[in-house]
Amino acid sequence: MTDTTATTTRPWLDAALPVEERIDLLMAEMTLAEKVGQTHQVANIDPDADAETIRAGRISSSLYASGATGGNERDEGVLVGSIDAAQRHAVEGSRLGIPLLFGRDVIHGHRTVAPIPLGLAASFDPDIAERVGEVAAREAAVEGVAWTFAPMVDISEEPRWGRVAESLGETPVLSGRLAASLVRGFQGSDPSGLDRIAACAKHFAGYGLAAGGRDYDTVSVGENTLRNLHLRPFKAAVDAGVMTVMAAFNDVDGTPMHAHEHLVRGVLKNEWGFDGVVVADWNGIGQIVFQGVAADNREAAALAIRAGVDLDMVSGAYLAHLEELVESGEVELALVDDAVRRVLRLKFRLGLFERPYAARPGATNAPTPESREVALRAAQAAHVLVKNDGVLPLDRDSGTVLLSGPFVDDGEALLGTWTLDGRGEDVVSPGSALKARLGDRVEVSDGRFSDRTLQQSRRAERTVMLLGEHPSRSGEANSVTDIGLPHGQLDVLRAVARLGKPVVAVVYTGRPLDLGEVLDLAAAVVVVWHPGVEAGTALASILLGDVEPHGRLPMTFPLSSGHIPTSTHQRPTGRLIRADVDHEEGRYLDALTYPRLPFGLGLSYTTVDYAAPTVSTSTIPTDGSLTLTVTVANTGERPCREVVQLYVRDPVAQVTRPLVELTDWALVDLAPGQSREVTFEVHAEQFAYTGRDLTARIDEGEVVLLTGPDSARLQPVTITVRNDS
Ligand code: NOJ
Repeated sequence: MTDTTATTTRPWLDAALPVEERIDLLMAEMTLAEKVGQTHQVANIDPDADAETIRAGRISSSLYASGATGGNERDEGVLVGSIDAAQRHAVEGSRLGIPLLFGRDVIHGHRTVAPIPLGLAASFDPDIAERVGEVAAREAAVEGVAWTFAPMVDISEEPRWGRVAESLGETPVLSGRLAASLVRGFQGSDPSGLDRIAACAKHFAGYGLAAGGRDYDTVSVGENTLRNLHLRPFKAAVDAGVMTVMAAFNDVDGTPMHAHEHLVRGVLKNEWGFDGVVVADWNGIGQIVFQGVAADNREAAALAIRAGVDLDMVSGAYLAHLEELVESGEVELALVDDAVRRVLRLKFRLGLFERPYAARPGATNAPTPESREVALRAAQAAHVLVKNDGVLPLDRDSGTVLLSGPFVDDGEALLGTWTLDGRGEDVVSPGSALKARLGDRVEVSDGRFSDRTLQQSRRAERTVMLLGEHPSRSGEANSVTDIGLPHGQLDVLRAVARLGKPVVAVVYTGRPLDLGEVLDLAAAVVVVWHPGVEAGTALASILLGDVEPHGRLPMTFPLSSGHIPTSTHQRPTGRLIRADVDHEEGRYLDALTYPRLPFGLGLSYTTVDYAAPTVSTSTIPTDGSLTLTVTVANTGERPCREVVQLYVRDPVAQVTRPLVELTDWALVDLAPGQSREVTFEVHAEQFAYTGRDLTARIDEGEVVLLTGPDSARLQPVTITVRNDS
């Protein structure tokens, strides 16, 4: 209920008024200093040290703070339990009572950690992504967090770049669809709901193209490629209602993204109509100076506000200089007003004016059976079986198994990168899960590979080796030049394989690795990414065949580090790539160019046949649609969940188009022996692309639709698009 005394003096508190009117009412009262205050975000707000600044209306938002109440304890330098105390200064102690907004990186789960985003992408399952977002939002909200900096939708084709772990893979449609699901999960249909938080699509734009895979490096890309590829998942997130977008650290063709007026204000805000907040990345405005495009923070502030960056994450450049820049006439007041409107709009839409305090006595965000169930489904769906000579599933009733490798009992490591709130002790480890299932039949080694591993392996009938990289080797600022397994692991695998007994390699990773020798030596290989709190339960259920493996690779695995980048969206050159002449076409003297493991690959414990696709009509108008049908048959003896994939190729266009591009897929459950007709509604707008003049177009002419189990095993059907008008 609205408090009438309050709404008389502060009419914007009347929740019955439309948000835009509330913003007008509030802004009419704000001084320039207070407006600038709304563009300033600090890290780790301190209710004592920052009290005066908050009360002066000079802080809009804080990142990292967590914990509604509980006093000012420090955990690794971050104040815990400070949110409501800081909020009280803003709401009750500042002239206008504008609430603070608390953001935190809640990337793949809060307490109940789900697989890293790349693992989530392997699920190809929008429903799971939405559930993961929902659980994360609920748990974060309990701690007073109102805003997360996720999902990351940087198109990722560069496995040297550590941040691919945080991405949703290499294709715009998969990335965009899962991002939209995550946004729905975080924000719900009403982001002011008690268990909802604002989402943030990041990093706008082109960050995945960082030169050499070196984090933060420069990006040289043309606008056509940006529009045809890199901007598309951002557009999907915006269409799904994402409330904020984060600017990227990189430049694009010489212009730092924090100063990129054309892309941020022009494309994102004006062309797409995004009315939310563009937040800087950490010191991103200050970094324009390091990038050599501004002489100092004052100039950087002017560039960034013109570009359309609304909220300054920690650089302090706006707070220090915007007022004076407006007063001197160098920056138009309208630009600051636009930024402030957006920040206030976010705060109103989140319901912060109605419910500024977070404390919920008795509420906890410890994992529950329900949250664990979501994490388990997601972790199971992240398991991608890429080789199996029949050793899997492990026979449940006979044979001894050695489980060895660095991830056997290291809960912390299985959470993955960017988990501020996950706890190692919440993780069900592979060691404990397999022990619980197999009892004495499994021997769990001590976690380090050693000569003892060989002795133990000799005694066991099968060895399950948990290989791969620790999360500290993936994620932000963790790029590598060599995507091979960490030092020493291959030597152990070689030695164990020489014993002549079947080896199952389970690969934990934040990026596509060079798995050449692993695939040669192991009888079965499962790529698991970093799977979160249900790591062990999920692994046991897949290895023992309680659940059929159904994940698919969301990124291409190149043959070696020297083959990077390799992806489905490579565009044709003047020299066709053909398998039989690959080695003659001058691409590499010393290797073929094909990927080690193609995008979309993922096996199950059965075999599935795909018939050739058929279409309801072979000609459609540019605004028309057709139905494509493909019959898939489970020809084996176990059930499966097949990810039936639909790709598109445009053979003649205004610009070079990808060799194949994923445009749709269907998750199809098949019982042993069952066959099903799978239908896709295909709309001509799925063939739209950005042409030479940078506008969207749908051409007349032939389009090839291709279906199959992955991007390398496809059957085509050609249709024609014609313009009826
Ligand atoms: C820098 C990272 O690039 C971004 O993804 C993250 O959200 C911010 N730091 C805040 O932690």
